[in-house]
Amino acid sequence: MRLFSVRLIVSLIVGVMLVSLCSSGYEVWVGKRSLRRDMQRRSEVLAESLAGSVERDIEKHAFQTLQKTVQHFANRENLMGMAVYDPQGHIIAITDDLASKMTAAPPVVLETLKENSEADAFQRLANQPVHICVLPLYSPSQFLGALAVVHDAGYIRDQSMRIWRETFLSGLVQVILIALITLLIVRWSIEGPIARTAHWMRALRTGRMPSSRMASPGEELFPPLAREVATMAESLNTARTAAEREARLRAEGQSQWTAERLAADLQARLGASRLFVVSNREPYMHMRRGKSIEVRVPPSGLVTALEPVLCACKGTWLAHGSGTADRESVDKYNRLAVPPDDPRYTLRRVWLTKEEEEGYYYGFANEGIWPLCHIAHTRPIFRAEDWEQYQAVNRKFAEALLEEMKDTEKPVVLVQDYHFALLPRMIKQKRPDARVAIFWHIPWPNPEAFGICPWQRELVDGLLGADLAGFHIQSHCNNFLQTADRVMESRIDWEHHTVQRLGHKTTVHPFPISVEIADLALSPSDPSAYDNRSALLKNLDVEALFLGVGVDRLDYTKGILERFLAVERFLEKYPRYQGQFTFVQIGAPSRSHLKRYHDLEAEIEAEAGRINWRFQKDKWKAIVLLNRQHSHQEIEPYYKGADLCLVTSLHDGMNLVAKEFVATRNDENGVLILSIFTGAARELPDALQVNPYDIDQTAEAIRTALEMDPEERQSRMQNMRRAIREHNIYQWAGNLIAELCELRLDNHEKAEGKTRLGSSAV
Ligand code: G6P
Repeated sequence: MRLFSVRLIVSLIVGVMLVSLCSSGYEVWVGKRSLRRDMQRRSEVLAESLAGSVERDIEKHAFQTLQKTVQHFANRENLMGMAVYDPQGHIIAITDDLASKMTAAPPVVLETLKENSEADAFQRLANQPVHICVLPLYSPSQFLGALAVVHDAGYIRDQSMRIWRETFLSGLVQVILIALITLLIVRWSIEGPIARTAHWMRALRTGRMPSSRMASPGEELFPPLAREVATMAESLNTARTAAEREARLRAEGQSQWTAERLAADLQARLGASRLFVVSNREPYMHMRRGKSIEVRVPPSGLVTALEPVLCACKGTWLAHGSGTADRESVDKYNRLAVPPDDPRYTLRRVWLTKEEEEGYYYGFANEGIWPLCHIAHTRPIFRAEDWEQYQAVNRKFAEALLEEMKDTEKPVVLVQDYHFALLPRMIKQKRPDARVAIFWHIPWPNPEAFGICPWQRELVDGLLGADLAGFHIQSHCNNFLQTADRVMESRIDWEHHTVQRLGHKTTVHPFPISVEIADLALSPSDPSAYDNRSALLKNLDVEALFLGVGVDRLDYTKGILERFLAVERFLEKYPRYQGQFTFVQIGAPSRSHLKRYHDLEAEIEAEAGRINWRFQKDKWKAIVLLNRQHSHQEIEPYYKGADLCLVTSLHDGMNLVAKEFVATRNDENGVLILSIFTGAARELPDALQVNPYDIDQTAEAIRTALEMDPEERQSRMQNMRRAIREHNIYQWAGNLIAELCELRLDNHEKAEGKTRLGSSAV
């Protein structure tokens, strides 16, 4: 660093000196030229004004008068004197002082006498710089000689020297100032941040970095570099945590699933093959915002769960490109590498027309299957046109997937969710060598409820094309098996949970999905986010002592209105909490294009408004509704600052908000209130479990949570964290893929001869 500063300063000094020398030289040259011109002009004027009287004196032979005249002009300012010459160059009259210095006629005088024309020259006389201006003299009839006016030109040299001196001094002052300022800038803005960054990196390398200080301190210096370093630090920290955890587990003789273990396991299982995931929702949407493009992670439990899996095993994820700037962000194969900051896997976007999106996504999937599978008392709507589009879009995705995996032998395919019930059969028909699983992220209702769907046979048949069908919990598997039993010609093995149909076997097993749990220990130097909750509330313009939080897509299955009623009942029943307890609902608008969702958003807002109006006092509010999408980073402080988290779904396949809340609470504080109608309730008995339809029960759970003994709170949270640690997202993916890879593909050999690898139309 010192060498860098010296080099920088020396270069600056040399540079500034050179510039200042050039500019001084130019200034001296310009000054000298103007002084010379000035002298020439003055000499000329003087000579011309005297010429008439000198000519008269010569004509009259009044040589004494002439001598007096030239003597009269001696030593005035810079004028040294004058001399008058006859046509042969002999002196007629000359100023006394000049006579000793100018004994012979100078060349410029001889030139005038010869040419009969005016001339001037700068030259030296007895080692003194002078200017001589010579004018020819005439009478009307003859040439009389020449008049020479001699000026002392020494002051021009003095002036030039003065300019040189002044500009040199000002250059020197500039150099000193610039060097000083540079030195200060280097010290404050470069050396300081670099020293802090080096210190920060040393702490990171030696593992002495509290997680609260992960952001790079060099942010103010080189923002892009700082961002990269911060990302690298995060990766390093994650890797170190994973390695420590692995080591700890090895020492304890256990084996917990981690990203590294999943990656190694998949590598061993897949060999030369590859993993392909298909879902409707994409993990990253590119959205146009004015002139720029921003990347958004959509609110989806499916995306939250699958992203770490794809990152761990570098697969390809096919999804609907639904962002407004998605097309501008892909290559010519409609692919891009993601995550944008740290690319790990390929996202292949599939484009849908407005009609396809309307019929397949909004219509059949979200107005038909979604309410059909969630018992939340919203009537499903089935339209033949939507069904047509649903089939067409499943075909379109099948074509894209076949294209993507045409060079991969024995690919492993994970189809996600109710948008693609028909896809497993379509894929297996063309690629019997592929191992295909479908994971159904939402509940599967009992056969009577499912039976109202006019296309139930086709949906079940599509799913039975898969080698493995996964649900969150055993009861959803049972419902599916019963539905298959009722609507299809098939043989169910209730012991092994398989369905045999048309020579193909589908295994139906539960795989409870989960989240990633970073499990970073809380260092004593970390400021507790829980202690910061009043600051969090202050940002929302609310003052309260206790904080409850809910995080959902604004969906009628989530029981948000029931939750608000429970908060109202709690405040009504326990008025001492009025002014003390605030519930923050983070609600991401979802599927708003559908009337049911649009109306729900308005209902939720109105209900929050009504309850707030009823209780509001001073700077306190009962409910704060933040109805816009929040990033994980924005949600985390609420999870960490909350006394309780309310998950009151009326029906939910799993509900990952419950698990995310628990995963975030490394302070082992906070209480989870959880609906018994979620899949998560099976795994988290230490949550306070409620029936969301029972408003009084939920209100009571809020009070229990707030008044719970800290030790009980900690022990419940520890148990829940243990459950999630043991059954995390890597275990989910590891188990699902392991089971898929271990299945015997019974009809593969038979079909292999008939079907070639390729992407022919589905
Ligand atoms: C549920 C579904 C996901 C879906 C998510 C968000 O979790 O199981 O498949 O992505 O809701 O809904 P959206 O329609 O916005 O994708």
